[in-house]
Amino acid sequence: VRKVTTNTLLKMKAAGEKISMLTAYDYSFARIFDSAGLDVILVGDSASNVMAGHETTVPITLEQMIYHAQCVVRGIDRCLVVVDLPFGSYQSNSDVALASAIRIMKESGAHSLKLEGGEEIAESVRRIVNAGIPVMGHLGLTPQSIYKFGTYTVRAREDAEAEKLKKDALLLQDAGCFAIVLEKIPAQLAKEVSESLHIPTIGIGAGKHCDGQVLVMHDMLGINNDFNPRFLRKYLNLHDQIVEAVGKYVNDVRASDFPNEQEQY
Ligand code: KIV
Ligand code: NA
Repeated sequence: VRKVTTNTLLKMKAAGEKISMLTAYDYSFARIFDSAGLDVILVGDSASNVMAGHETTVPITLEQMIYHAQCVVRGIDRCLVVVDLPFGSYQSNSDVALASAIRIMKESGAHSLKLEGGEEIAESVRRIVNAGIPVMGHLGLTPQSIYKFGTYTVRAREDAEAEKLKKDALLLQDAGCFAIVLEKIPAQLAKEVSESLHIPTIGIGAGKHCDGQVLVMHDMLGINNDFNPRFLRKYLNLHDQIVEAVGKYVNDVRASDFPNEQEQY
């Protein structure tokens, strides 16, 4: 198997080949996604929402992210694995950021990390990259700052925020990032940012001109029935299929239909 590396992604952008990324948080799904030909798996801090049931990504800890990353890494043959640094593990200063980054890399076996923010974290990005750890940036709607934004709506619609985002993207590229996630920004802005960089942009709710796309696995598989933003394409309706399957199982058990003669020893 030819493994996907950060260099592969740079070459894909140069060749105009789009990059596919999904989140995963455990061994079994990571293994399926890897075998399906996906390029990148993100161990997202969205685990805080979809795995732990928290309302935001703020509470998830470094230890919990390391656990999810360890599980995912065991399922991988060829995907590049990116792990989110969680809220509180890097914002205070670059010494803390570097220590957190090194911990995830040592303890999980993942290949790279993702941090939210621009200028504010550029020095941390530079130091982590200088330590030999590939870093993915994340601009636009950065959910760890939800209490600053107050809402999960589209970011950078106003000129000032759009200008800062363009500058931040160039700063992150200069700091050594190998790619940047652009979350929930206007498609035209994402197009301009993508064209201004030699590193790939990976969009979520950021339009078709990004160099790649990412979705949360629970969203694209339709596991979560009541999350239906405009940007989301659902490839399955697993919620309804699972409800139906569990309902049938309950009925079969109650009717003493399961197990039958062939299903016992
Ligand atoms: O945690 C996550 O799932 C993410 C993606 C939405 C980019 O950061
Ligand atoms: Na995240």
